[in-house]
Order: sequence, then C-alpha cells, then structure tokens
Amino acid sequence: MTAKNRILSGMRPTGKLHLGHLVGTLDNWVKLQKEYDCYFMVADWHALMGEYENPSGMSEYAIDNVIDWISCGIDPKESTLFVQSQVSAHLELFLIFSCFTPLGWLERCPTYKEQLREVTTRDLHTYGFLGYPVLQAADILVYKANKVPVGEDQLPHLELTREICRRFNGLYKKNIFPEPNAILTKAARLLGLDGRKMSKSYNNAINLSDSPEEIQKKVSSMITDPKRIKLSDPGHPEVCNVNSYYAIFSPEIKDEIDDSCRQAKIGCTDCKKKLAEKLNQKLDAYRQKRRELSRDKDMIKDILHEGNVKANTVANETLKEVKAAMGL
Ligand code: TRP
Ligand code: SF4
Repeated sequence: MTAKNRILSGMRPTGKLHLGHLVGTLDNWVKLQKEYDCYFMVADWHALMGEYENPSGMSEYAIDNVIDWISCGIDPKESTLFVQSQVSAHLELFLIFSCFTPLGWLERCPTYKEQLREVTTRDLHTYGFLGYPVLQAADILVYKANKVPVGEDQLPHLELTREICRRFNGLYKKNIFPEPNAILTKAARLLGLDGRKMSKSYNNAINLSDSPEEIQKKVSSMITDPKRIKLSDPGHPEVCNVNSYYAIFSPEIKDEIDDSCRQAKIGCTDCKKKLAEKLNQKLDAYRQKRRELSRDKDMIKDILHEGNVKANTVANETLKEVKAAMGL
C-alpha cells in the first residue's frame, strides 16, 4: 500500500465560524479526509499577528471552532487536529526560513499590501505581520505536506511557500521538502447578508451556531433585487443574493424559484422564509452534534492533546533533518 499524500490546512481562531467557512473550507476538508493524511490546525500564532492587542478570546474560539469542525464532519479518528502554538517546531523552522527570505518577496505579497490598505481597526505595520507567510510556509513544510486546500485569497502565500521550499533545498543541497500544491476550493464565494464578503468584522455573517430563529431573522434582512419593489414586479434572480444562497444550499429547487421570481409568482418574504427553512434543515443535524460536544469540552481538549503529540512527533523529525542538512 502506498502512503497517502499529506494535507495541511489551518484556520485562525478569531471568532465564531459562519456559513462562509462551511462552504469555503469545512465541506472541502471533510471531502479530503478519506483520501489524504490530513493535519488540520488551529492557527493561533497567525491569529495573534492580528489580534495582539486583545488575544484573550483566542483559546475559547479555538475550542469553539474545533467543535464546529467535528460537528460538520471532521473525524478526529481519521484526521489529526492540533494547535499551532503547541508544536514549537513551527517557530524554529519559521526563524530558519526568515534568515533567507528576501524582504522584497514579503513586501510585494498582494495579501500583505491589501491588508495594510484595508484594515483600519488595528496597526498591522509590524515586523511579525510582514512575516505572516513565512510562518505559513513553516506550517506546511514542517509536515512535508504535498497538498494545501485553500481559497483563492491564500494562493500568494502558497506561491511563497514554494519559493521558500526551493530556496531551502537549493541552499543546503538536500531535497528535504516536497513542493506543495494548492487544492483550490471550488465552491462559489458566499456573500454576507449585505452583499459584501461574509465576515465577522462586517457583521453580516450567518454563524454555524445561530439558532433557527436567528437564521430566520438574518435571512429576512437580506438584500434582494433592488428593482423589485412591488410584489407584482417581475424579479431578476441573477442579481439577487438570496438566489445565490439557493444555488449553494438548495440547488434542487433553484430553477423553480428562478421561474417564480421572474414571473412574480413568489414574493421576497416567502422566498426568504423558504430559504431559512432550507438552511435550518441543513444545519439541524449539525446542531445536535454541536450540542453534545459543547457539553464535553474536556473531550475536545483530549482530542487536541492527542493531535498535538502526533504533530510534534512528525514536526520534530523534520526539524532534525533540517538541522542536519544545515550542519547545525
Ligand atoms: N493564513 C490562513 C488563513 O488566514 C490560515 C493558515 C495558517 C493556513 N497557516 C496555514 C492555511 C497553513 C493553510 C496552510 O486562512
Ligand atoms: Fe430574490 Fe427571491 Fe425576491 Fe426573487 S423572490 S428577488 S430570488 S428574494
């Protein structure tokens, strides 16, 4: 039997998970876990790079996020779930990579430039934040991961990881690291209630932990086709955000909804009510699981502890090889 290819991916524990995480990341992780040897990480050091002024919520979000992962189908028996800060080899490799990563690579990184431009609530002009992708490279390479499932926004980081990988192998004349490839998430990007990107900071997200009533309320506040004012006005489903939710969460009735909307046979209020029902149906199974797991946080801690031990074993092994190659 040939060994499975390895996957490493991570999420920053900066808040509750929402539907965007589910369709953008979690559904994908669940699909990959049979075929690959998966390492899924709570990226708390990465979170700290943004949340350094107020880091105290991170450990609670870490547990809460992992509860969501497992509720949505991540199986801790199949995949290794761990916490970045509990595996110190990441930081050693991060420092080693930092020595030979040119500043220009990092300063040119589009995600870096964008964040400096867009984020106004905290100061990201820091030494640590510039090095964000170097730590990400260490995360991936310390497990010699071959594949990294990411959204499109993370592709520049993966490209940097590949460059760091080549530079290391070239400098120390040892092919320790395989060059990792992205597995790009295919799901259409889910927009928030107001039509902008779904994000905690925009306050436009539907959280996985929302109650059926909260979902009903949030869906009823969604922006629809702006040209449809009266019930008798024919609608344009292709410009309506509610409709794009149908495409993702209830594709079997999307065509029917499209037709009814165009012919003004269904009103937006009913259309949204139906969508909320569909969403609640989808989240129901998950809610049950979440309720059970939330009652037993010690079990979640045990799962992470076991994952940390396993991750440390693999990561320390790589670090040993790295140091030997460098003559350290
Ligand atoms: N930067 C990723 C994000 O914000 C999180 C992350 C950290 C990650 N380390 C990683 C993702 C390694 C994939 C692989 O979403
Ligand atoms: Fe959007 Fe539905 Fe209203 Fe049509 S009926 S505009 S799809 S909410």
